[in-house]
Amino acid sequence: MRKEKFRPQFHFTPQANWMNDPNGMVYYEGEYHLFYQYHPQSTVWGPMHWGHAVSTDLIHWNHLPIALYPDSLGYIFSGSAVVDWKNTSGLGTRENPPLVAIYTYHNIEGEKAGRNDYQSQALAFSLDKGRTWSKYEKNPVLPNPGIRDFRDPKVFWYNETNKWVMILAVQNRVQIYSSSNLKEWSFESEFGVDRGAHGGVWECPDLFPLEVEGSTIKKWVMLVSINPGGPNGGSATQYFIGDFDGKSFHSDVDTTKWLDWGMDNYAGVTWSDIPEEDGRRLLIGWMSNWQYAQEVPTESWRSAMTLPRELKLVQEKDDIIIVSNPIKEFEVLKEQHQKDSETLLSGEVPIDIKELDLKSCELNFVFEPQEASQNGHTTAYGILLRNDKEEVLKLGYNMLSKKFFMDRTNVYKAFSNSHYLSLVTGDYDIQNQVKMKIIIDAASIELFVDDGKFVMTNTVFPQEPFNQLSLFSSLGSVKILEAEFYNIKSIRAK
Ligand code: FRU
Repeated sequence: MRKEKFRPQFHFTPQANWMNDPNGMVYYEGEYHLFYQYHPQSTVWGPMHWGHAVSTDLIHWNHLPIALYPDSLGYIFSGSAVVDWKNTSGLGTRENPPLVAIYTYHNIEGEKAGRNDYQSQALAFSLDKGRTWSKYEKNPVLPNPGIRDFRDPKVFWYNETNKWVMILAVQNRVQIYSSSNLKEWSFESEFGVDRGAHGGVWECPDLFPLEVEGSTIKKWVMLVSINPGGPNGGSATQYFIGDFDGKSFHSDVDTTKWLDWGMDNYAGVTWSDIPEEDGRRLLIGWMSNWQYAQEVPTESWRSAMTLPRELKLVQEKDDIIIVSNPIKEFEVLKEQHQKDSETLLSGEVPIDIKELDLKSCELNFVFEPQEASQNGHTTAYGILLRNDKEEVLKLGYNMLSKKFFMDRTNVYKAFSNSHYLSLVTGDYDIQNQVKMKIIIDAASIELFVDDGKFVMTNTVFPQEPFNQLSLFSSLGSVKILEAEFYNIKSIRAK
């Protein structure tokens, strides 16, 4: 598996066949669970199951048997999982609290028959650390009220009211429900019809509290994936920051904020039940885009997840934003440190990469564009990756448009899905210096700018691995204050 073309070396992938959204992420008894939308018979989407893997460090994963199979009520669509610590559902005991998965049934016959009520919410539970699952006999627990898009429940415990809260994607908005036992749900409120981006249907929401870094201010964060309608077309995830009182959510500002400006981070939600002493908010997303996910040129499997990321809130001028960064556990995979000294650069300068493996690496830079030079102002700067097939990937910042860009135009032209945007861009205003962390793994590039204030995740399918690295600066010059590279160890068996 390690040798397969495009097989990521340190990102989660199914061993074989089709995967989309991450589902049911929950931490219990020392294990992080990751379920995912899975079609075990094909490399394209089809009857959905929940695939399953566990990890003790969020980096190395053990693949487990499929957790949930479709049944007479429908395919198993996306959803969440919680530890029912107080056994409110009665599905376990206090001594052995049940793990409860809350997912959407998608009834394909209902859909084909042109009905509107083919999606409903249901429960399954496990009493053996997620190894085997039983479906609740009275499913569904939240029947469909006659709305076509009614799915992707994310459930959490809200202490102040002693209730479970469910946030659900409903066409062009989210709905919030509450329950004392996970089995009976009452409608509380709606959010979003007049907020945020509306270029497509809303999917896979999440809602959680976070403190603003360096303060005691607690805000509530709502994530909402949208497809299509992302900033570069297709699938993407927007977010809102505001307040929640157990019943309804109000966002502070009306502008749309994107969690990730790239084309390949979708349906990301966060882990439940991370112990308080850890206290992190951890997210993983599906590293693909519905515009081309089913056509990407991998052979035995399709799709990977993003690196797990820690989300934090920071005050940025008069706004509060999410910053996302690779989890600290990722550090264990870093090796072979190469550090280059400060340089002033103009034009294109090849880097002597020595032992650096550009298939699996992390590149860190601090750039400082120079005010003016004899040639005029710098217009763009960044990195170029090349291979022996003369493919070139360009990643950098354009100072005129104030946009980061990743240009895939000259890589794998044979993969000609017209939606596979060659130039992916995202707005970010750089005043002076900028830090870039670039994580490359076989067929993906994750860019984290200024400690996660701007993030861009993109797939890329070079016909041969990149083996040359250069830095570039167009017109004027740029100073490289720091350049530090690491190889990343594979998590796959040899
Ligand atoms: C998002 C999504 C979800 C749905 C699942 C089906 O990618 O469309 O809304 O539950 O995928 O596989």
